Amino acid sequence: MKQAFLSKFYQKSIKERFEALVAAEVISEDDTVNFNDKFQLPNEIANHMIENQIAIYGVPLGLGLNFLINDNDYVIPMATEEPSVIAAASYAAKTIRQASGFSTTVHNRSMIGQIPLKNVPDMVYAERVLSEKANHIIEKANAAHPSIVKRGGGAKSIKTRIIEANDMYDSPAFLVVHIHVDTLEAMGANIINTMVEAIKPYIENVTGGSAIMGILSNYATECLVTSTCRIPVHLLKRTGYTGEEVRDSIIEACQFALVDPYRAVTHNKGIMNGINAVVLASGNDTRAIEAGVHAYAAKSGQYRSLTNWTKAENGDLLGEITVPLPIGTVGGSISIHPAAKFTSQVLGSPSAKELESIIASVGLAQNFSAIRALVTEGIQKGHMGLQAKSLAISAGAKGDQIEKVTEQLKQAKNMNLATAKSLLRKLTN
Ligand code: MEV
Repeated sequence: MKQAFLSKFYQKSIKERFEALVAAEVISEDDTVNFNDKFQLPNEIANHMIENQIAIYGVPLGLGLNFLINDNDYVIPMATEEPSVIAAASYAAKTIRQASGFSTTVHNRSMIGQIPLKNVPDMVYAERVLSEKANHIIEKANAAHPSIVKRGGGAKSIKTRIIEANDMYDSPAFLVVHIHVDTLEAMGANIINTMVEAIKPYIENVTGGSAIMGILSNYATECLVTSTCRIPVHLLKRTGYTGEEVRDSIIEACQFALVDPYRAVTHNKGIMNGINAVVLASGNDTRAIEAGVHAYAAKSGQYRSLTNWTKAENGDLLGEITVPLPIGTVGGSISIHPAAKFTSQVLGSPSAKELESIIASVGLAQNFSAIRALVTEGIQKGHMGLQAKSLAISAGAKGDQIEKVTEQLKQAKNMNLATAKSLLRKLTN
């Protein structure tokens, strides 16, 4: 990729942005032909995706720039309605690339299917028999979905957990059987659900318990990815603050989010601004990722920050995020939504593990930008510029008028829709 062609991307018109992407070798000249068609979800496909479909709801798609992840350059498609998310991610990535970028580790990539059993007559016996029959259960699960096995994946192991009866909820004791499945490039919900439903009767039979369901767990603790970065203090300097002051304040902001759930939710919401935008642009299930990530943030029993910012021995700022990211690069809407196909192309058709690394790094970048701003000049300064632009558009400004009204609004005493409308009236009269 020829990064230099992407500089000042935000100042370019949409036509110039495409030219820059071609020049930077992110997309080819051919990709720009009938470009809009490559993003439009046709009504006839939408109509088959959901029920009672009446229209297509649009979300802006932008590009996160400057990302250097494991020594590879990425231009990252992000779908979001929130102003400043993409600017913040790109800004953070620019600082972090000067400090050798993000490094990631995909710890494992296995999805979990659950079968909870109640009325198990003897838990100890049931756990023993399940362990003895594990290979047979795995064979049965794989027989229910032979195509994933043919491609090199499939059910690999089983695990059991006992959950004691809980008087507060009047809940009985459960023996929970987990099956761990390598779903390769898929997120794998259908594969897992087919497998657990197929093995459910056998599991009931050998344990004597009754299964209350068989379903994938979105708490993907066997699908974790870590992204880290190391930033020397000279890159953290801001007007009025030394690099050391910014570093120490970022660390303190993170410590606060580790101990206070009220702050942790907002801190992690900022992280999800980035994660969700890439998950959505890639055609993956945003709700599955959100639910799993938030549960992971509460794994200690208290909801805490997903990131950790600390000081290295030499004084550098160290950033780290670990999140469960059971995403896929095939299946579901990824294979049918034209935009998802195109965004994968922009990313260089990454594998699922590579995409996990990209998404985690965007989350870390987003958090760095947010807390760096919060502990220095605050976020309103940057936000107000974008808010002014939204108000100008809401007031009806078009083309050149948008920038003109935005600039005047930023200087105005009251930045609101009435002022935007009045400025636009003055401009057009
Ligand atoms: C706004 O969408 C996200 C932030 O509130 C995140 C944060 O506070 O860390 C800026």
